[in-house]
Amino acid sequence: MAIQLGDEAPDFTAESTEGTIRFHEYLGDGWGVLFSHPKDFTPVCTTELGAVSKLKPEFDKRNVKVVGLSVDPIDSHRGWAGDIEETQGAALNFPLVADADRKVSDLYGMIHPNANDTLTVRSVFVIGPDKKVKLTLTYPASTGRNFQELLRVIDSLQLTAKHQVATPADWKQGEEVIVVPAVTDDDAKERFGDFRAEKPYLRYVPQP
Ligand code: BEZ
Repeated sequence: MAIQLGDEAPDFTAESTEGTIRFHEYLGDGWGVLFSHPKDFTPVCTTELGAVSKLKPEFDKRNVKVVGLSVDPIDSHRGWAGDIEETQGAALNFPLVADADRKVSDLYGMIHPNANDTLTVRSVFVIGPDKKVKLTLTYPASTGRNFQELLRVIDSLQLTAKHQVATPADWKQGEEVIVVPAVTDDDAKERFGDFRAEKPYLRYVPQP
């Protein structure tokens, strides 16, 4: 069955461009992102790995370890890393798992046979410090992902993990947030001070 939100992220041990990875141990007490790529030496994937390498300081700031995966062997990954650095202006600076036997891809349901029965789709899993899956995304091979959006979701997840708030459509860091329905008006006042209610169920407070 597909991995669902709230499930424990399956642990695995695999070879990567930064040596052997024991996934849960590698994540430690922090957050994690595991994201798959259809294949080495493919154009969209090359741009994605360059984009994430450039954004690595942003993931670090949020205490998020990023791990990529592609269904090719480690020697192929090493060769491809040279092309990524040459064409994207950034060297690969996080582990890229070599999953030639598709062990991890199968564990995470990253192969969608009706799309392609040998290549992984563009899956993303965000994993919390409790090792539970907090977000899943599946993109087709032909569409490169928006990693600024991934950072935005991580900001929302980290905020809502700390405070009983949710984030509205298109929310960005620093903008007003929504008090979740489970919090009464009295509790909301105690927690956040005054709030702005557009409807009894639609209450806004400044970002805590
Ligand atoms: C790519 O990364 O460019 C790609 C991979 C598989 C199919 C289509 C595009």
